[in-house]
Amino acid sequence: MRLLIAGGAGFIGSAFVRFALRRWPECEVIVLDKLTYAGNPRNLDSVEGERRFHFVQGDIADDAQARSAMSGCSHVVNFAAETHVDRSILHPEVVVRTNVEGARVLLHAAVDLDVERYLQVSTDEVYGPIDAPRRAREEDALRPRSPYAASKAAADLMVGAYHATYGLPALITRGANTYGPFQYPEKMIPLFVTNALDGLPLPVYTDGLQVRDWLAVDDHCSGIAAILEHGTPGEIYNVEAGNERANMDVVEAIVELAGCDRGLVRHVPDRPGHDRRYALNTEKLRALGWRPRVPFDTGLRDTVEWYREHRAWWEPIKSGSFRDYYRHQYEQRLAESVP
Ligand code: NAD
Ligand code: TYD
Repeated sequence: MRLLIAGGAGFIGSAFVRFALRRWPECEVIVLDKLTYAGNPRNLDSVEGERRFHFVQGDIADDAQARSAMSGCSHVVNFAAETHVDRSILHPEVVVRTNVEGARVLLHAAVDLDVERYLQVSTDEVYGPIDAPRRAREEDALRPRSPYAASKAAADLMVGAYHATYGLPALITRGANTYGPFQYPEKMIPLFVTNALDGLPLPVYTDGLQVRDWLAVDDHCSGIAAILEHGTPGEIYNVEAGNERANMDVVEAIVELAGCDRGLVRHVPDRPGHDRRYALNTEKLRALGWRPRVPFDTGLRDTVEWYREHRAWWEPIKSGSFRDYYRHQYEQRLAESVP
């Protein structure tokens, strides 16, 4: 197997690089990554020097760069994306270029280069909010509500079109909210953990009763691998571990694990279009034999410990251009916050 991992310098992509090199001893891995603010070569430090690993800096939306990196590859997994809902509200144009046009460029290159399997990494957010106790199934209608979710839904439809029209053996995975080491500290868990460790406020959007189903990054990787190996081309697979939690429950657990002052928790004005609940039915993936391994309590505890021990990874991020984003996103909200 010669595997192109697009977006392999990001959070889940870099975990999948480590996972793939372990799981498939004959596999050669090529990472294509633009190294945006979210891409970090340090995420790949542990595989640097491995002879089966190659890194190419490039843009998935650039046809020549995408083809050159994909040349000779039997398999492609596309993680590359603009992934943060709040930023997608500020800059939808960047999101569409990478998440939609970038995916189309990769798909077309995969057809022309006769790739054996193309896997698009998508998200539960394409279904939009799901009322309890229902869980979204793969055949459900797409009702995305943020620019991020809409761009991922558009890419999913394009994958379906490339399968139907050009016969590309393509699959889609729709994963739940993922957490673990090396996650850029803009998403809720790493932002709140690093803020808690620094004694900074934890800005909870409104009542914090929104529900997400938390998936450990290693479980997300093993799900994607199972689908790459055993999934049926043309099919879509939900990936989720059954760890439904209200945000406030996660926040209370972080306060406890980080040992910070409970007074740091602040309720701030909401994100526009904030989806109340995501939940997935995973019967289809479980029929392939996949099971999650990481209980949420253990996974969250280990994640907090990882951030406690890896300040050298996240402090430079939080003191760089992230500061401008943070100020823009939270300064006014925190001024209006309540305990
Ligand atoms: P991330 O933001 O940590 O990493 C994204 C990576 O893509 C970065 O390395 C970035 O440099 C790269 N990238 C961005 N634009 C690019 C471009 N034009 N060309 C090449 N590389 C580019 O993201 P993540 O959280 O690891 O998410 C990976 C994938 O998983 C995304 O497709 C996302 O939609 C999906 N997903 C994420 C979650 C989650 O909770 N994080 C859940 C479900 C699905
Ligand atoms: P996030 O990690 O951004 O993932 P997503 O929006 O893709 O689900 O957010 C997870 C939940 O946490 C979501 O309900 C929004 C909420 N949230 C906050 O309350 N405050 C924050 O500062 C952030 C970033 C998220």
